[in-house]
Amino acid sequence: MAKITYITTDGERFEVTAEPGTSVMENAVRNMVPGIEAECGGACACATCHVYVDEAWTEKTGEPSPMEEDMLDFAYDLRANSRLSCQLRVTDELDGLVVYIPEEQA
Ligand code: FES
Repeated sequence: MAKITYITTDGERFEVTAEPGTSVMENAVRNMVPGIEAECGGACACATCHVYVDEAWTEKTGEPSPMEEDMLDFAYDLRANSRLSCQLRVTDELDGLVVYIPEEQA
């Protein structure tokens, strides 16, 4: 299991315990974390599950796939640490992961 912390633009923190193999998006939706809409249900086709990965974690989360990169172009306020949370797979290595939710989704 891995602990994931989601932080909203208001500074509200949501800590959830996530099972390896699930996505960071699924855990947000299941735990009613606000601001992750995930309109396409995780198919990498909407960019409404956009998050900013905490700088301390960008190395562990790795690089987005070319498909994710294409979809990220539609994300609101894209930054170097932007990721689509449906494409972030939870592993034991990501225990402690912190992500920030953008002010708006695409
Ligand atoms: Fe649609 Fe992630 S849920 S791109």
